Amino acid sequence: LDGALPPRPAPWWDGLRERLLEHARAGTPRYVYHLDTVRQRARDLRGTNAVDRCFFAIKANPHPVILATLVEEGFGLECVSAGELAHVFRCLPELSPSRVLFTPSFAPRREYEDAFARGVTVTIDNIEALERWPETWRGREAWLRLDLGRGDGHHAKVRTGGVAAKFGLPLARFEAFLQAARALELRITGLHAHLGSGIEHPQHWREVYGELVALADQVGTVESIDIGGGMSVPYTPDARPFDLAAWRAGLEEVKAACPGYQVVVEPGRYVVAEAGVLLLSVTQVVEKDGVHRIGADAGMNALMRPSIYDAWHGIHNLSRPADAPTRVFDVVGPICESGDVLGHARALPVDTEEDDVLLVADAGAYGMVMANTYNLRALPAEDVIE
Ligand code: LLP
Repeated sequence: LDGALPPRPAPWWDGLRERLLEHARAGTPRYVYHLDTVRQRARDLRGTNAVDRCFFAIKANPHPVILATLVEEGFGLECVSAGELAHVFRCLPELSPSRVLFTPSFAPRREYEDAFARGVTVTIDNIEALERWPETWRGREAWLRLDLGRGDGHHAKVRTGGVAAKFGLPLARFEAFLQAARALELRITGLHAHLGSGIEHPQHWREVYGELVALADQVGTVESIDIGGGMSVPYTPDARPFDLAAWRAGLEEVKAACPGYQVVVEPGRYVVAEAGVLLLSVTQVVEKDGVHRIGADAGMNALMRPSIYDAWHGIHNLSRPADAPTRVFDVVGPICESGDVLGHARALPVDTEEDDVLLVADAGAYGMVMANTYNLRALPAEDVIE
């Protein structure tokens, strides 16, 4: 059957239901992260000679134990704000600045200067910053983020290239940028492009590498080619897992064809999404006008992804047998907004009741870190398990 989905291994939490119920007894909402899964995903990405350096995009999940684990696995860390930089050096005071990238967007001048003072690798992504703050850049080394003219990813709000996106120097200004950089003796030692998040086709990164190499050859001082993050994870039951073998093969081929540069990637989601679950408790079960709803003790305040990107996360009732008879429910949170829906039309046990524990799957990336206190509801707790 061409095109049939390969069978998927059961998720890590399937064998740990009792243990997760115990965690839920300590209080919900609660994120639980599975370190073995983080390690496994990290090793999957590092398992090719075509990638020289991996930097974890900490915006996806800056939990200190996750950062320490990834650094142990040989990852560097990619930061986008002064807050993220301070966080990584607070969590990992011994970390060499050579293992940290600073890739901000529209940051104030002092954040670039703070990053240079820390000795991390700084990425610039427009010419105006050079023109306006020449003394910040004079005589330094930096990487340059380019807009290759198109975006990609699971939703318009996470596509980071093309005219509609605020990121990156457009290619039309590449020459002018290089001239301005030369005048300041700013050496461009890396070229960077990240086109978006949740990209499913594995050849994307080799294409980006090819485009950046052609430009790097024009610069003459480039050592690293950063082809971004954005590798997808299969959130829905019918999604294909990311084709890591094809990803590796594509990169190996293109690197062999255009050698001489360090290949850098900066994934976030791929490393942590499947390693995290959100545990919630059922508050009320209500029928209105024929629609059955399960209410949980947190919703868009704990996990924004469904409400802002229409993202789909699996939802399971851990308190009932996996084969219990089901009915179709909407799963909603307690926030005073109609968009506070975690899942539409989900088959869940018909006898779901108050205090049952719900598990929201694949919530390890852009979950806790985007949680908020809207309606003055408390932030979720976080546990890490082996
Ligand atoms: N590098 C840069 C420059 C980025 O802007 C991002 C993500 C990454 C790397 C990591 O991308 P990843 O491998 O995680 O796809 N909140 C959204 C995703 C926003 C991504 C922002 N930038 C979501 O929940 O889908």
